[in-house]
Amino acid sequence: MKIFVTGGTGYIGSHTVVELQQSGYDVIIADNLVNSSIDVLDGIEKITGIRPEFEEIDLTDRAATRDFFVRHSDIKAVIHFAALKAVGESVHKPLEYYFNNLNSLMNVLDSMREFQVPNLVFSSSCTVYGQADVLPVTEKTPRHEAESPYGNTKVMSEDIIRDLMKVESKMNALALRYFNPIGAHPSAYIGELPNGVPNNLIPYLTQTAIGIREQLSVFGDDYNTPDGSPLRDYIDVVDLAKAHVVAIRRLLEGKNKANYEFFNIGTGKGLSVLEIIHAFENATGVKVNYKIVGRRAGDIEKVWADTTLANTELGWKAATPIEETMKNVWKWQQSLR
Ligand code: NAD
Ligand code: WQD
Repeated sequence: MKIFVTGGTGYIGSHTVVELQQSGYDVIIADNLVNSSIDVLDGIEKITGIRPEFEEIDLTDRAATRDFFVRHSDIKAVIHFAALKAVGESVHKPLEYYFNNLNSLMNVLDSMREFQVPNLVFSSSCTVYGQADVLPVTEKTPRHEAESPYGNTKVMSEDIIRDLMKVESKMNALALRYFNPIGAHPSAYIGELPNGVPNNLIPYLTQTAIGIREQLSVFGDDYNTPDGSPLRDYIDVVDLAKAHVVAIRRLLEGKNKANYEFFNIGTGKGLSVLEIIHAFENATGVKVNYKIVGRRAGDIEKVWADTTLANTELGWKAATPIEETMKNVWKWQQSLR
């Protein structure tokens, strides 16, 4: 059973390819390598013993995307990871983000429709909720107007998929709204490869711990949270990858209850920035040089998921303790020396 994974050499995509292959699926990846390296295929092969098929394709190229589907008539489902994801950059380059994230999605959907590939799993984000009024957020929590062009591409992508599913009754789509993905594969053969100075907490933290960065700035300790630093739902990337396998299985086995569904994928627990730093220190024995500074513009105070729907409907639950995640991400950072 062959699954087409777009963006499969990226951070979450590569971990998902590993879990798919270990569950017996054949995988073909298309990626333009704008934010990943071809060497990721070596890491996947080392873990699974199988080198996934790979094609370097820019999915904003409509003809190239269609040609891919012409040549691979054995694809049964698509997981669409490919997107640009840097929130701050998207504010400065809105057109590039709308162009890339929306055209790639529409080209994939158009070919799926033409070549009758019925099943799609889409990478969405908790960013669609913004700062919710009531926590934790359930799938019934209203989406808020996006705070960045990146976030807006997720809102718009969900809407494009929803509208298409209304008229394509033979197609099925399932969006996973990831909370904050962190960590690396326990083998340390694959993990997150941030480009330049990281924006996200964990890569900044591990780069500080190893001495690439001098000091981690904690953006604010005056929020209305127990220790004053913001709360997020940090989900281990391997747990997240496994959610894609159960989502794909649900669609392939026809167990979905509607032809467009969406699920929160998180742990169900909010951790503060300071709790994350202490979890890392406890798990690794390595001290992190950090300093409390002012709030980061655009940050929300707190968000975490109600994961009841994913637990009951998908039969999926986050399982990795935070200390384990921290050990894995530290092993990964050390392997990059
Ligand atoms: P990533 O940048 O590591 O992976 C995305 C991959 O897509 C990269 O390998 C990149 O080269 C590829 N790509 C981008 N545009 C492409 C195009 N036009 N054609 C072909 N390939 C293209 O990012 P990630 O963290 O693995 O994220 C995967 C998906 O999950 C994205 O859709 C992202 O928006 C979403 N998401 C990520 C997070 C997060 O915090 N990492 C949270 C929520 C949702
Ligand atoms: C986490 C916490 C920061 C860096 C982003 C996107 C969101 C989704 C997930 C894709 C915050 C604090 C961070 C640092 C810090 N991605 N922090 N010092 O902002 O919750 O979410 O990734 O869909 O859309 O916005 O993640 O890792 O940047 O920050 O104190 O150097 O760590 O203030 O509270 P964020 P993050």
